[in-house]
Amino acid sequence: MDKLVIRGGKRISGTIAASGSKNSALPIIAATLLAPDGIFEINRIPDLQDVRTFSQLLVYLGAEISFDDNLLRISTANLKSIEAPYELVKKMRASIYVLGPLLSRYGHTRVSLPGGCAFGPRPVDLHIMVMEKLGAEITIEKGFIDARVKGGRLRGTRIDFPISSVGATGNALMAAVTAEGTTILGNAAIEPEIECLCNFLQKMGANISGIGTTTLVIEGVDKLQAVSFDNIFDRIEAGTLLCAAAITKGEITVTGVVPAQLDSVLKAFAEAGCQVTTGADYVSLVAPDRLRATDITARPYPCFPTDMQAQWMALMTQAHGVSNIIDKIYHERFNHIPELNRLGAHIEIRDNQAIVHGPRTLTGTKVMSTDLRASACLVLAGLVADETTEVLRIYHLDRGYEKIEKKLTSLGADITRDKYQEFS
Ligand code: UD1
Repeated sequence: MDKLVIRGGKRISGTIAASGSKNSALPIIAATLLAPDGIFEINRIPDLQDVRTFSQLLVYLGAEISFDDNLLRISTANLKSIEAPYELVKKMRASIYVLGPLLSRYGHTRVSLPGGCAFGPRPVDLHIMVMEKLGAEITIEKGFIDARVKGGRLRGTRIDFPISSVGATGNALMAAVTAEGTTILGNAAIEPEIECLCNFLQKMGANISGIGTTTLVIEGVDKLQAVSFDNIFDRIEAGTLLCAAAITKGEITVTGVVPAQLDSVLKAFAEAGCQVTTGADYVSLVAPDRLRATDITARPYPCFPTDMQAQWMALMTQAHGVSNIIDKIYHERFNHIPELNRLGAHIEIRDNQAIVHGPRTLTGTKVMSTDLRASACLVLAGLVADETTEVLRIYHLDRGYEKIEKKLTSLGADITRDKYQEFS
C-alpha cells in the first residue's frame, strides 16, 4: 500500500490551479446514461480513483469510455446491463447515481444497496422515495433496489425533500428530465455541483427552471443528446489548499475557481485572521502570524461544507483559543479527532461538538485515516508537525485529490509517496 511521508515545517507558497470537481463529475458521468446515442466529451474531469471506479461501473453497464488528460469521452449507445453490482457499488456510495438515469431510460433497473460508511449511517431512503413518487415500484430484495415503472415511463409530480440531499436531488433530476409532464422539486439541494448537473442536463436538451434555487421545475422531454461540456472546479480541493497555506503561515493563490462558491470558507479564513483577496477566477490567501480560533458549523450550501470540516479542525489546532466545530450533516464525522490527538492536538468531543484547544505543537508519527477528508486533515497536520508524519491508507486520499503530493510539493512542501506493508 502507499503512504505519504511528510517532513513538516515547510512554508506553503505559490500559485496553483484548482482541479475539476469530483462531486460534479460523478453525477455528470451518470447522466450520460440518459442519451441513447452520440459521444460525450467532458473536460476538466479530475483523474481520481472515484472517477475511475465510476467509469468502471459504466463500462460494466456497456458504455465505451476513454479518459486522457482530464478529457472523458463516453458513449452509452450500446448498454448491455441495467444492474449495478454490489462489487462496484460497495466501493463507492455515489454509484446510487445510476438509479435515476437507468430507470428513466429502461423503465427497470437493479442497483445494489451501498451499505454503511466510515462516518455513520448514510441511508438512501430519499433516493427510493423520489423514484416511488415518480411512479416506480420499488422492492428491496437480496440487498438490491429493484425499481420498475409500469408502462416504462416515469410521471412528473411534486416532490418535497424533508431534508436537503445532494445525491437525492441529483437522482431526482436525472429521473425527471425525461418523465412525462412536470416535476417540481421542493427543498432541492443548491450545491454548485447540482447547479452544474442542471446545466449539463440543459445542454443535453432538458427543460429545467429555477436552477440555483431550492425549487426546481422540470418539464419532461422525449429525448436527450450527447454534448461537450466543461466541468466546474473542485471547491473542496481549493479550500484544502487554502488551509495548507494558512496552517504553514504561508501564502497561496488558487486559480480557476469561482470565489463566490467558496464564500462561507473564505469568511471563516478571514475570521481566523487570514488576509483573503479574490478576483474573477482566483482567490489569494496570506496567513497571519497568529491564527484566531473560529467556530464553524457545517450545514448544506451556502453554509460551511461538511467536506471541509476535518481540514478546518486541523487548522484550528494551530489557532489561539478554543474553537467549536459542529457538523449538522454528519453528526459523527469525527474519525480524524483521535488521530489528530495522537499528533499532539487537544480536541474533545461533547454532545456531537468538537472543542479544539489551540495552539498545540504537533509532532509527527504514523497516522491512519478512515475516509477521504480525514486523510486530507492528517496531511495538513503533517505539514505543520515537527519531524516526520506518515499518513497511511492514502487510498482514501487518492479517491478525491488529484496529484495532491505533486501539487503540495510544487508549493514548497516536503512530501513523498512510499510503499509500506500492512499486517493482516
Ligand atoms: C454528497 C457528497 C459528499 C458530501 C455530502 C454533503 C458526492 C458524491 N458526495 O454526498 O461529499 O459530504 O453530499 O454535502 O457528491 N440522507 C438521508 N437519506 C438519503 C440521502 C441522504 O437521510 O436517502 C441524509 C444523509 O445521511 C446526510 C444528509 O442527508 O445526513 C445529506 O446527505 P447528501 O446531501 O445526500 O449526501 P450525498 O449526496 O451522499
